[in-house]
Amino acid sequence: MSITNDATDSGHKALAVQAATTADEGCAVQLAQRLGLPLLTADIDLIHVTRARAVLIVSGQSLSLQQTGRGAPGPVVVDFGSPSMRYRSRSGTSELLGKAVGHGKKVPLRVLDATAGLGRDAFVLAGLGCEVVMCERDPAILEMLRCGLQSAAANSDAWLSGVIQRMRLCSGDAQHLAAKKLQGVDVIYLDPMFPQRAKSAAVKKEMALFQVLLECSANPQDADALLVWALAQDTARVVVKRPSKAPSLATLKPSHCIAGKSVRYDVYVHRKLY
Ligand SMILES: C[S@@+](CC[C@H](N)C(=O)[O-])C[C@H]1O[C@@H](n2cnc3c(N)ncnc32)[C@H](O)[C@@H]1O
Repeated sequence: MSITNDATDSGHKALAVQAATTADEGCAVQLAQRLGLPLLTADIDLIHVTRARAVLIVSGQSLSLQQTGRGAPGPVVVDFGSPSMRYRSRSGTSELLGKAVGHGKKVPLRVLDATAGLGRDAFVLAGLGCEVVMCERDPAILEMLRCGLQSAAANSDAWLSGVIQRMRLCSGDAQHLAAKKLQGVDVIYLDPMFPQRAKSAAVKKEMALFQVLLECSANPQDADALLVWALAQDTARVVVKRPSKAPSLATLKPSHCIAGKSVRYDVYVHRKLY
């Protein structure tokens, strides 16, 4: 089987699904059907694929996202057990993000990560002890997150499974979340775009893929509307991650900012966390 329909027909302008081996073809067919994406067989070399700019690769229990074409960077996976995720959860990133959401002021702190993406910030927050509801509207990224959570939950590492137990996943646009999902949420966290903000190859690779996939999320007005929605919810605070020199979303002045080297957290305080 080759591409079954034009990749431009789907919601994603440029995405397809491929099985890593013939043994994965059954799962790949199901995923392609579920996402309404074209399917590539395992024998197709992604260097030569031009009709899809990125491909979701099904390999056993894991799912990766790989750009097509010559010179494309390596695949992106959601691997919460990886050394880089562990490092991230103990680094300065975690300290700044923790401070921004008000970690330590209330236990447990309940955070809605309304722009879950690859779940890295949600993982940092859950690592700090927060209970995190992640919301992701992009169906392909949602599948990757789901897959990453499942494989981390099956990991025998007690610390990792403890962290994963504090993470829950919701599908769809955060602005359409049912009211009961927002009940008890203390903080809404937003990281709506992948700006050019980090120099490491790993981040560049992820950014490049997201730029291919998430044209809608890259629309500044889209992010502005999300902040306006978040501020209208009954939570103690809203936190927005921004590139350090970028203006605040919707030109709304935050109560205060927590500044790092390349990112800044704009904190909108409604009331005390208690
Ligand atoms: C920059 S990424 C977030 C990265 C994430 N903080 C991380 O650590 O991996 C932004 C993500 O938010 C999602 N997104 C943007 N607006 C959304 C909305 N209104 N509801 C749900 N997801 C949204 C996009 O699909 C994208 O996956």
